[in-house]
Amino acid sequence: MPYDGGVSRFSRRTGWDLTESSFASALRQARASGRRLWDLTISNPTRCGFDYDADALLPSLTGLQALSYNPDPRGLVNARAAVARYYSAHHAEVGLDDLLLTTSTSESYSYLFRLLCDPGDEVLVGQPGYPLFDFLAELDDVCLKPYPMFYDHGWWIDRGELERAIGPKTRAILVVHPNNPTGHWTRSEERAWLQDVSIRHNLALVVDEVFLDYPLDGNPPGSFATGEHPVVTFVLSGLSKICGLPQMKAAWIAAFGPESQKSEALGRLEMIADTFLSVSTPIQLALPHWLEQAGGIQRQILSRAGRNLSVLRSIAAEHPGSIEVLEPEAGWSTILSLPGCGGDPACAEHLLTSSAVIVHPGSFYAMSAPNRVVVSLIGDSDEFEQGILRAISQAIIGNPG
Ligand SMILES: Cc1ncc(COP(=O)(O)O)c(C=O)c1O
Repeated sequence: MPYDGGVSRFSRRTGWDLTESSFASALRQARASGRRLWDLTISNPTRCGFDYDADALLPSLTGLQALSYNPDPRGLVNARAAVARYYSAHHAEVGLDDLLLTTSTSESYSYLFRLLCDPGDEVLVGQPGYPLFDFLAELDDVCLKPYPMFYDHGWWIDRGELERAIGPKTRAILVVHPNNPTGHWTRSEERAWLQDVSIRHNLALVVDEVFLDYPLDGNPPGSFATGEHPVVTFVLSGLSKICGLPQMKAAWIAAFGPESQKSEALGRLEMIADTFLSVSTPIQLALPHWLEQAGGIQRQILSRAGRNLSVLRSIAAEHPGSIEVLEPEAGWSTILSLPGCGGDPACAEHLLTSSAVIVHPGSFYAMSAPNRVVVSLIGDSDEFEQGILRAISQAIIGNPG
């Protein structure tokens, strides 16, 4: 919550309420106590016991070329060519000049907010959604306006509410495809509708596809990089999820849309990128090698997420009424409804103190329904199963044993 008055030497935009939430305080105390905890929130892939092939990944950082500096604000051509090959594998054609490298998807958002918005302008964002958006937008003086998504045999965009949220200051609609934490895809008819609304209201589409390579079921609808682009559209992704390498800090923006708008956008983005030149040379040199090897880590993550999801489904089938899985279609996380979890919005805190199980409160992701929590699907499978069983037994009999 920004600072709302009085005298401060610091900006209003950084005037957050930094007092510890009740959940954060309970978590700090639980960790400090040294007691065994079942952490169902681990989503850092480098801490999930996956096998990273050091001999294949690390040598690409030590080439001699890393010693010379020839910056290109859009990113080194070879790195952009590798990103274009990534999209070819997804049946999409992306021109080298339509790509711009950044250090992270977060940085991509910041560039796009600065490109699209003046201070006080608005961007529409789906809820439940990724909590970092609030901070990213605030730091660029952009107002986020939520549009709801609802669960009814799958997740859907509430189209009426989305259109009602559009006002004179709205500049873009943000879509996470597949979404975090719901794990649902934007369906092709929803995509067509979003394009239509964007045309009618002169908005841009910003599509975050960091989890695109992690379908859990069925037939994924594919990248927004494919097909027609009647409105200016920015597709974001990066190495943190595609290669399971968040520490390497490389991501990109791919621009699509009517030619004149697209090239003006890219010219301005290039200027923003040129101001910072933030992506390091060794990382850009290594990026093509890492993208080529992404399949190895993706298979491990997908197999872990698939296994954890099927454990979850069978536990839910054995305990009807105690746990409901709000079925994900893709990604690294899912939402659970635990009707017996105290009947209040502090369900996650209740599970922590009573069962030593760490889950994310639904409110982190702007969910208002009580007893909803978010769990990561990529953590260790034994820990996951035990943690879920403890949470369930707490929900059923109030004593996990
Ligand atoms: C939907 C979504 N977008 C972006 C990111 C961050 O990506 P990056 O590490 O490239 O900033 C995350 C991280 O979890 C995410 O969930």
